[in-house]
Amino acid sequence: MALEDVGTLLARAAQFARPPISNFHVGAVARGTSGKLYFGANVEFANEALSFTVHAEQSAVANAWMSGEDGIDLIAVTAAPCGYCRQFLNELTTAGGLAIQLPTGSFTLAELLPNAFGPRDLGIEGGLLQRENHGLSIGTDDELARQALVAANMSYAPYSKSYAGVALRTSDGFVVTGAYAENAAFNPSMSPLEVALSQLNLAGRPLESVEGAVLVHLDELHTNATRTVLAAVSDAPLRLVRARNSG
Ligand code: THU
Ligand code: ZN
Repeated sequence: MALEDVGTLLARAAQFARPPISNFHVGAVARGTSGKLYFGANVEFANEALSFTVHAEQSAVANAWMSGEDGIDLIAVTAAPCGYCRQFLNELTTAGGLAIQLPTGSFTLAELLPNAFGPRDLGIEGGLLQRENHGLSIGTDDELARQALVAANMSYAPYSKSYAGVALRTSDGFVVTGAYAENAAFNPSMSPLEVALSQLNLAGRPLESVEGAVLVHLDELHTNATRTVLAAVSDAPLRLVRARNSG
C-alpha cells in the first residue's frame, strides 16, 4: 500500500540533508513494520573521502533500526535510489516485499534490483534489522560507554563479526547512538559512527556540537575510520572501549 501525500513529508525530510559537497538534498521516509514513519536525509563530510557519505535511504533505514523497528515495508525517496542504496536495501530482513515509492511511481526492490546479489550468496540466513544480542560486556559503567555497548550488542556484522557501537554526547547533553550495519557487498555497510551522526543530524543538532564520543568495539576494524570521520566534524576525542565477547 503506497503512502498518500508523502510529498510534504519528503520535503520535510530533505530539509535535514547536509550536502556541503554536492548541494544535492535527498529526503527519504521509511515505514517500519509497526506502521511508524522515519525520516532520512543524506550527510556528506567536507574534505573527506566521498565513500563516507550517508545516503538518505541508509539514513532512514538506520533511523528505523535505532528506534527499535525489526523491518521496513516501504521507503519513499525524493529521487531514484542509486545502485549502492538498492544494494543496501537488499540486506533488509524485509527486502523480499519492500516497496519503493518514487516521484515517478511505485516499484518493488526486486524490480529495481533484478538478478540481485545478497546475504544468501554468502550463506547468511538473516538480514539487517533482525533483532540481535551479541552478549558483549565492558569493564566500565560510564553512561556514554554503556549506551555505546547497547548499540554494539544490536549491531549487524555477520561477515566480519566486528560488532561495534558508538555513542555521542553534544555540548548540551543530548545523546545519540549508532550500531554497525554490514552489507553482503561490503561497501554499502554503515559504520557505527555514520549511523550515530545521521541520528544526530535528524535530531536537528549540528554535528559540530559533538563533545564526547565512545566506540565500543571488539577489534581494530573500526578505529581508524571512526577517528577520521569524527575529526571531520568535531574536535572531540574518541574514547575506545574494548568489549569482551562473553556470548
Ligand atoms: N544520494 C542519496 O542520498 N541517495 C541516492 O541514492 C542518490 C544519491 C546522495 C549522496 C550524495 O550526498 C548526493 O546525493 C549526491 O550523490
Ligand atoms: Zn544511494
